[in-house]
Amino acid sequence: MKKLFAFVLVLCLLCGAAMAESAPRILIAYVSRAGENYNVGVADPDSASAAYAGYIEKGNTQIVAETIAELTGGDLYHITTVEPYPDDYASMLTRAREELDDNARPELAGELPNLDDYDVIMIGYPIWHAATPRPVLTFLESYDLSGKKLVPFNTHEGSGQSGTVSEIAASAPGAELLDGIAIQGKVAQENDDRTRELLTEWLDKIKLIRQAKP
Ligand SMILES: Cc1cc2nc3c(=O)[nH]c(=O)nc-3n(C[C@H](O)[C@H](O)[C@H](O)COP(=O)(O)O)c2cc1C
Repeated sequence: MKKLFAFVLVLCLLCGAAMAESAPRILIAYVSRAGENYNVGVADPDSASAAYAGYIEKGNTQIVAETIAELTGGDLYHITTVEPYPDDYASMLTRAREELDDNARPELAGELPNLDDYDVIMIGYPIWHAATPRPVLTFLESYDLSGKKLVPFNTHEGSGQSGTVSEIAASAPGAELLDGIAIQGKVAQENDDRTRELLTEWLDKIKLIRQAKP
C-alpha cells in the first residue's frame, strides 16, 4: 500500500513538473493612452471635443492588457514614445493622422524587453484611423520574431480589427500569428464582467488561459 502511495505521489510530482515546464512564457506588450477619448469617460465642458469625447484615467487597451495578464499570468509592458501623445482628443487625432500619412515609426521610450525570455508575445493596441498605431510597428520591427507566437488584441469604437492583423503580420515575418480579439473600448472601460467573459472565452480557445495549480 505504501509503495502504491509513493508511486502515485511521484507520478503527481512528475506531472506537475512537466506542466510547469510546458507553461508558455507570455509577454503582453501594448500601446494605450489615458486622457480624452471617444465615447468614454467624463467630458470636460471646456473641451472642444466634449460632445463626443470624455476623460479617462486609464486607457481602454491597458485595461484589457491587465485583465489578460491576470488570466494568463503573462508579464505586462507598456509601449510608449519619446514624444508623448497628447491628452487632448482633437490634437491626438491630428498626430495619429500625420504618423499614418508618413507611415512613421515613432521612436520608443525606455528600454525594450528582452524577448528571448518569452515564447508568446501578445500585442495590444487601439484602432487609430482604421489602422494600427505606428509605434506598434516600431516595436515589432525592433525584433526578429521568428519562432515566436504572436497574438494581437485591440480595442476600438466600431472598426473591429479593421485590417490591422495583416499590418502586424507584415511587421513580424516568421512569427506564428494566432487568432486575435477586438473589444469595444467602451466595454473595456465600463463593463469589467463582460470584458473578462470575452477574454476568457478567447484565451481558452487559443489555449493561453492560465492553468490552475495542481
Ligand atoms: C486618434 C484616434 C483615432 C481613432 N480612430 C478610430 C477608428 O478609426 N475606428 C474605431 O473604431 N475607433 C477609433 N478610435 C477609438 C479608439 O480605437 C478606442 O477609443 C480605443 O479603445 C482607445 O484605446 P486606448 O484607450 O487604449 O488608447 C480612435 C481613437 C483615437 C484617439
